[in-house]
Formats: sequence, structure tokens, C-alpha cells
Amino acid sequence: MITGNPGTGKHTSARLVAGRLKAEVVDINKLAIDNEAIAAKTAKGLEVDLKKLGRLLAGILKKKGKFVVVGHLAPYVLKTAGIDVVVVLRRSPARLEETLKERGYAREKINENVSAEILGISLYDSVKAFGKRKVAEFDTTGKEPEQTADDIVATVQKKKPKRAGTVDWLAVVSEEEVQRFFAY
Ligand SMILES: Nc1ncnc2c1ncn2[C@@H]1O[C@H](COP(=O)(O)OP(=O)(O)OP(=O)(O)O)[C@@H](O)[C@H]1O
Ligand SMILES: [Mg+2]
Repeated sequence: MITGNPGTGKHTSARLVAGRLKAEVVDINKLAIDNEAIAAKTAKGLEVDLKKLGRLLAGILKKKGKFVVVGHLAPYVLKTAGIDVVVVLRRSPARLEETLKERGYAREKINENVSAEILGISLYDSVKAFGKRKVAEFDTTGKEPEQTADDIVATVQKKKPKRAGTVDWLAVVSEEEVQRFFAY
């Protein structure tokens, strides 16, 4: 499973990892939209029906085969059973801001996502849902997608130990940045 904040490189990594492991990509966002697992449409976007999505995913993971499940909602819809490794991608607040700006996100949405990244919410929620032993964290800042994919594959194949809790943006962001990103 690959999760992390929007813009950290999940889908790019998932495609590469699936290619190397001869696995199938299961895109959680696409699954929700294609199967109308939508609870509400709000001004901020679509609100996903997590229960329905959880059932859909469980159905897919019961099938024979190798899967790379990808999406920022992964910690909230997946059961621990059957998940070998939970990869949480991280990206420095400054680089993440650039990525989200390039995508044309509104300032409020950028700040929301960058502050979630600073606080490490994806990592925290993944550890809570799956346990620390299953979680591996990777910083994609300044890395090529191929490098990140190599690191993920090596971890899945147990050639590298899983490490989590190694990224701490709070130690590197300035007071001014915290004020700016948390103003929403
Ligand atoms: N080491 C890296 N691994 C993966 N992607 C990277 C890396 N470095 C830079 N990128 C780039 O980061 C950008 C964002 O990647 P991507 O669209 O895969 O993010 P995402 O996490 O899937 O976002 P979302 O959750 O919004 O779909 C892409 O332009 C990608 O090429
Ligand atoms: Mg994506």
C-alpha cells in the first residue's frame, strides 16, 4: 500500500513499483468514483463513502495476485489483513508547496495539505491503523521517482528494513512558515 499527502508522489511511485513487481495498481480514488462510493458533494470536493469503499477494496484484495493499493485515504479504508507493507511518502513543506502550486490548488487547499504534511498526519494515521512494524516512510524530496521506486521495492522484498518516524519537518520549518501554512 502507498499513501501520503496529495503531491508527495504516490501515483508516480505506484506505477513504477507495480511495473517492477508485476503487480496491479488499485487506485482508491478511481475505485470510489467509478463505483459511486460518494457520500456527499461539498464545496470542497467529493466526500467519500468510506464503508462502501472498504467493502469494494476488500473484494479486490481477496482475488489472487499482487496489488499496489494507492491513495491518501488508504489508512481509513483498509483492514490490516493482507497488507504486507504500508509505504508513507513524505515531501518537504517547501517542495510540496511548489508541487501543489504547479497544480493550481487554491491557497487554502495548499495550506491545509502542507500543514498536514508538517504534522505528519498520514504517517501517524498509518501507524495507528496498521502498526509500526508494517510502516515504511520515504522522503521523496530531491529524489528521482526511480530511486523512490527502487527503495520501495527493496523494502517489499525485505532487502531493506522498514523505517518510520525518521522525517520531522517541525524541526526544519521556521516560525514564519508555520504561521503562514497554518493560517487557514
Ligand atoms: N521521488 C519521487 N517519487 C515520486 N514522484 C516524484 C518524486 N519526485 C518528484 N516527483 C513528482 O511529484 C509530482 C507529484 O506526484 P504524483 O502526482 O504521483 O503525487 P500523488 O501523491 O499521487 O498526488 P495525489 O494524491 O494528489 O494524486 C509528480 O510530478 C512526480 O513526477
Ligand atoms: Mg496522484
